[in-house]
Amino acid sequence: MVKSLLIKNCGQLLTMRGNGLGIIKNGFVYCEDGKVVKVGKGRAPKADRTIDAEGKVVMPGLIDCHTHAVFAGSRANEFKLRADGKSYLDILKAGGGIHSTVNATRKASKAHLLTNTLKHLKDMRSYGITTVEIKSGYGLDLETEVKILEVARVAGKKQSINVLTTFLGAHTCPKGQKPRQYLKFVMNEVLPKVEADFVDIFCEKGAFTLRQSRKFLKKAKELGFKLKIHGEQINRLGACNMAAKLGAVSCDHCDRLSRGDIKKLAQTGTVAVLLPIVPLYTGEDKYADGRALIDAGVRVAISTDFNPGSAPSKNIFLAMSLACLEMGLTVEEALRGVTVNAALALDLSDRGVFAKGKRADIVIMDTTDYREIPCFVGENLVKKVFTGGEMHPK
Ligand code: NIG
Ligand code: FE
Repeated sequence: MVKSLLIKNCGQLLTMRGNGLGIIKNGFVYCEDGKVVKVGKGRAPKADRTIDAEGKVVMPGLIDCHTHAVFAGSRANEFKLRADGKSYLDILKAGGGIHSTVNATRKASKAHLLTNTLKHLKDMRSYGITTVEIKSGYGLDLETEVKILEVARVAGKKQSINVLTTFLGAHTCPKGQKPRQYLKFVMNEVLPKVEADFVDIFCEKGAFTLRQSRKFLKKAKELGFKLKIHGEQINRLGACNMAAKLGAVSCDHCDRLSRGDIKKLAQTGTVAVLLPIVPLYTGEDKYADGRALIDAGVRVAISTDFNPGSAPSKNIFLAMSLACLEMGLTVEEALRGVTVNAALALDLSDRGVFAKGKRADIVIMDTTDYREIPCFVGENLVKKVFTGGEMHPK
């Protein structure tokens, strides 16, 4: 890695400072040892490597704060089933959906999962993603859940993209078991043994009830874990409200929040992670009201939710476009949703913004106008990506 890096001639340097994009026109960003040292315009320090951004948009590396990227098998059969009118929950109830991925992931070797995951991480980086959160949840037993989390960590070390992990052993109840019994097992036998940055649960009909979810998250909190929740995706069970009260770092999906829920998120400072590819793909067609959330003062992040069943897409550009088209976000809010607010959703303060001491995770976009980023629906506008000051081919 070069010691110092200068990216000059940045037509629009999006620093993400303040409440908007903090744009510096014709600016530069100078980094040393993988960290940002100086951001500004005019005379720049000399560096070991200088990159000319040719007047393009330069911004902090994108952060995908909600994915399920470690899995085996394929759910291509469900694509057709849904086109024929079967719903996401119908398929889950019939033993498909998450269960189908669980079967394949339990059988898969660590080496196989690692190969798959490394490929996904490489694809993500080509979309400008420099930090990603990965959840377990396709094991639903101690051995496989631990295997998934380990694969996620190892993949993050082998591929230059930062990986954070979330334990989602409470993704759904394994076939043939009772949810209460299974949750007891996860709380007593699995939770104390897992290594993860966050703990999450899927609170939904066909997965876990509000009461079960509360009990589970309380236990996770007692054990010192930071909390997340999959809530209000298909039915409103009060999951996000409950998780916010417990101090969750983020509530994810949020497609069906009441006014009271929105107020609660604003009060507690819990980040709402919106996942617009999910309603698009599952045909639920009920998108989170991003506008209402932001107007109420909630911090909103945008993510792909990359997974084999409800959002088989790593295209964070598509997520941004949909957030603007279907959730009422402005272009500026969508860009903050995949940088500074996505960092908040992961409780990270060292990235997502250009300022002294932040990580030198940088994307050069192939456009001179940031508004084109979500405007070209789902188009990958990345030109160059840097993680910790290291340059990667697109
Ligand atoms: O975030 N909602 C629950 N979990 C994932 C989907 C998992 C799957 O279908 O494999 C989600 O949408
Ligand atoms: Fe998810």
